[in-house]
Amino acid sequence: LEASSKIDDNAIVGKVEPRVFGTLIEQLGRGVYGGLYDPDSEYADEEGFRTDVIELVKELGITTVRWPGGNFVSGYKWEDGVGPKDKRPRRLDLAWHSTETNQFGLHEMERWLQKAGNLELMAALNMGTRGLQSALDFLEYANIPSGTALADQRIKNGAQKPFNIRLFCLGNEMDGKWQLGHLDQVEYAKKVARVAAGMRQMDPHLELIGCGSSNHGMATFGEWEETLLQYAYDEIDFVSCHAYYHADPGKLATFLGSAVDMDRFIDEVVSCIDASKAKLRSNHQVNISFDEWNVWYQGSEPSKVPEGLNNWPVAPHLLEDIYTVTDAVVVGDFLITLLKHADWVKAASIAQLVNVIGPIMAPAHAPAYHQTTFYPFSETASLTKNGRVLTEVSTFPKLENEKYGTIDVIDSVSVYCANNSLAIFIVNRSTDEDINYKIALPADHKYSEIVKAQTLHDDNFYAQNTAENNSRVILNDNDSIKLDLQQKKLEINLPRNSWTV
Ligand code: AHR
Repeated sequence: LEASSKIDDNAIVGKVEPRVFGTLIEQLGRGVYGGLYDPDSEYADEEGFRTDVIELVKELGITTVRWPGGNFVSGYKWEDGVGPKDKRPRRLDLAWHSTETNQFGLHEMERWLQKAGNLELMAALNMGTRGLQSALDFLEYANIPSGTALADQRIKNGAQKPFNIRLFCLGNEMDGKWQLGHLDQVEYAKKVARVAAGMRQMDPHLELIGCGSSNHGMATFGEWEETLLQYAYDEIDFVSCHAYYHADPGKLATFLGSAVDMDRFIDEVVSCIDASKAKLRSNHQVNISFDEWNVWYQGSEPSKVPEGLNNWPVAPHLLEDIYTVTDAVVVGDFLITLLKHADWVKAASIAQLVNVIGPIMAPAHAPAYHQTTFYPFSETASLTKNGRVLTEVSTFPKLENEKYGTIDVIDSVSVYCANNSLAIFIVNRSTDEDINYKIALPADHKYSEIVKAQTLHDDNFYAQNTAENNSRVILNDNDSIKLDLQQKKLEINLPRNSWTV
């Protein structure tokens, strides 16, 4: 197949906010315990953090960390996780039917964030079993310098300086019936308006995220966003989106179109925001925080939540999906989609980071390694932070997709990077056709050489990295690329089912 695009570097879609390369770290399975924190591990430092994981997190290019959930947050008492470790209570985690030991809490997270490269915390607050008072207490404990009961307690617990957290999620997936303390849209919207206003009485400059829909297919999608924005538009800065996708057996071709759904989801939430802003005649701007997205095989054994009244394991193996090269191609397509919406998506979190549906796997007694999905994330993050997404005019062949209708066979995005280079990301969604792709560069461009061209592809669409063979899937040089400076053209071959940078 043949496809072509023309890049226009005078028409900028938006700036790539570093926060788009965030992650979710939930107290779930071996995400925190065994992933971030494992004092008994041969890889642990003096504070119990796995250093091999920290190295990979730096390489991945993560910026913000949404924590402590996820569903877990809706039953969490943040106070349980501060103070002397031997006094911290063990609690039932109803979301994942596990025991939470509370050995890892706010102070540990703040220390870890520093060690992992001064990352930003996006703190999630419990709006399931709790509300305004615990949000205010948390804020006082974390952000007030000194001189009040809770600020002084933080100091006594070892943190002289306040944590200065700016970004807060007001709950998690409150539209979902599975959520502890689930609310209907009016109840939740009113709660957000109240909690946000109360938090702003302590600090008007916080950035607050209201829960949007748990996925595009929720029965209340649209109505939920409209109601939230009707009651709380001026109080919040972001509305969230969450989305997970997986390949059904024998349906790789359908799965490769998943980013089309993400794209439509974003467009429709943008419409809700625009409509609310117009109705309210507001000057305030609400943006999108796509703060959970990934491939997740929810129906598979690794996702199975324990059961039974006397069965509450500590850090069980949960949601430990091992990703294929096709999963990584789709993850690359999600990143392209997020970037293409740089004018609206100002924060995002791949869910999750380590062991639990993460780009990093940390086996108990072997060094942490890259999952296939690591590569598109790390490449996109390292090249595009603070760059500018450019407009492309494209002629792409079409594909018939069983779930998403007629879709483009290619998805691509071009970013003018902070170091004055041009980065182009391309997905070939076809399972059977290679594509010869021609890109017309901007007329007055100053580019002079190709720094690199790499492709993620494997003839075995199910190839994985495992603890035993952790470099089966990597990025390979794509030697087919040609730059014609006279004609101002790039040309490259894109193998079927591949992601290219
Ligand atoms: O990331 C796993 C779970 O997916 C999160 O806990 C929840 O928010 C979502 O449903």
